[in-house]
Amino acid sequence: MQFTDSDLDRLMLLLEWRRDVRHFRPDPIPDQALRHLERAMALAPSVGNSRPWRVVRVQSAELRQAAQAEFRRCNADAATLYHGERLRHYDRLKLEGMETAPLQLAVFSLEDPETGHGLGRQTMPQTLLQSTAMAIFSIWLAARAQNLGVGMVSILDPNRIEAILQRPAGWRFAAWLCIGHPTFDDDTPLLHREGWQENDESDWEIL
Ligand SMILES: Cc1cc2nc3c(=O)[nH]c(=O)nc-3n(C[C@H](O)[C@H](O)[C@H](O)COP(=O)(O)O)c2cc1C
Repeated sequence: MQFTDSDLDRLMLLLEWRRDVRHFRPDPIPDQALRHLERAMALAPSVGNSRPWRVVRVQSAELRQAAQAEFRRCNADAATLYHGERLRHYDRLKLEGMETAPLQLAVFSLEDPETGHGLGRQTMPQTLLQSTAMAIFSIWLAARAQNLGVGMVSILDPNRIEAILQRPAGWRFAAWLCIGHPTFDDDTPLLHREGWQENDESDWEIL
């Protein structure tokens, strides 16, 4: 397979317009789109080809509400880190789209999978979580290529989410993904736009 400059141009556009989305329309996403997301995740790299990610599609209103309550609790705790104007700014930020996102995925990462037979992770056990993060990013790009948005929610207590969703031992909660049609597109991160944290041009160094 040979890619062309126009493929690169499209990929760069996709990356520029891939944003963390927290404002969703509630209309459902087509089954075909969902299949593309599953396929994109299955194509992700993983340490030792261990494919440690596990996904729960959370459709139950009761479970979604329990997760939202967890977000509110953890977000209130997180706010205690800030004071004064920073706190007022933090309180104004929208940091999840759990109320309206039509598709919500709880992504887990296996702590010690049989798959891969331990290859590649003996000195860096965090490579399992890194693998799951890459699979999440694959979903993110595949969603954007279908004009969908993804919002990643990490302001949650992993132990509590594991208890709410009652997954087997060894499944560690990695992220909650809100997915749906965004109410607006942007090529600039919301946290940058809202003055919380600007994007630097480059983090690379040369030695
Ligand atoms: C590991 C991870 C966890 C994140 N958790 C949250 C979160 O809990 N709430 C939120 O609003 N955004 C969350 N984000 C999105 C980031 O805020 C966002 O990626 C960053 O501000 C840059 O914006 P962009 O994704 O639009 O480029 C998370 C992103 C990552 C990679």
